Amino acid sequence: MSATAAERPRARVTTTGLAAMKAAGEPVVMVTAYDAPGARLVEAAGVDVILVGDSLGMTVLGHASTLPVTMEDMLRHTAAVARSTDRALLVSDMPFMSYQVSVAEALRNAGRFLAEAGAHAVKIEGGAQMAELVGALTGAGIPVMGHVGLTPQSVNLFGGYRMQGRDAVSALRLVDDCLALEAAGAFAIVLELVPAELAQLISEELSIPAIGIGAGAGCDGQVQVFHDILGLGDFTPRHAKRYAEVGTAITSAVAAYAADVRSGAFPGEAQSAHLDPEVVATLERALPRTDGEV
Ligand code: KIV
Repeated sequence: MSATAAERPRARVTTTGLAAMKAAGEPVVMVTAYDAPGARLVEAAGVDVILVGDSLGMTVLGHASTLPVTMEDMLRHTAAVARSTDRALLVSDMPFMSYQVSVAEALRNAGRFLAEAGAHAVKIEGGAQMAELVGALTGAGIPVMGHVGLTPQSVNLFGGYRMQGRDAVSALRLVDDCLALEAAGAFAIVLELVPAELAQLISEELSIPAIGIGAGAGCDGQVQVFHDILGLGDFTPRHAKRYAEVGTAITSAVAAYAADVRSGAFPGEAQSAHLDPEVVATLERALPRTDGEV
């Protein structure tokens, strides 16, 4: 008797598996996670790809942008996520200035994500100008996910977090960027803040999956930031849908705990442990007090 789908061991999602998903018309589900509990929760939900995004600079570390995020930040958080997952493909963002200075430095830094932190692939921002680097990384056995459109590490060039590819010239440039990344060996490309028609056209042009965020429904998959879809941040971008109000639930729970501590309702009997009466008696004899209590 053959095993049912639920009984079969869950195979790890691979970069080549994503291409097969695209060929089969199966949408790729990708979400960010930054720590062990978050990784366990999104893995249990059955996502295909977990991205340790450099968005952790804002969502977790309290920075105003992704620019201050370091290699050490990314490696530490990637390792925490890697220890807590066994099915999803794990992709890590290379932080600002870890891959732009030279191909040699980029190779050394990218290798650390796979060798030290347990990632399966890295993501880098940028279009055709990154093709040479994508070729070098894949040539060294490091799978690369591209990222075009609004690339947050270039926010100062764009003058804000704005939709990209709105006119024909910049739209065609984005198509060329994606084709160059695909030709160089990228296994998937994130399209961030790109008009829906353009994102669909790019998805149709590529044989690798185009994964959208704020890029409409015509992509081969979608990626969202954990904090945005769970209501954990102070701000929800227009492209995100809140599937839960976890932030409000946490604040209410912690407020209830605080009220119980202040009223004496916590801890109760269920959360307390007691000494054996003989030990109490010994302590009372050793520490006699006027009220006779230990
Ligand atoms: O850092 C990140 O979370 C990302 C996603 C927005 C794609 O790059």
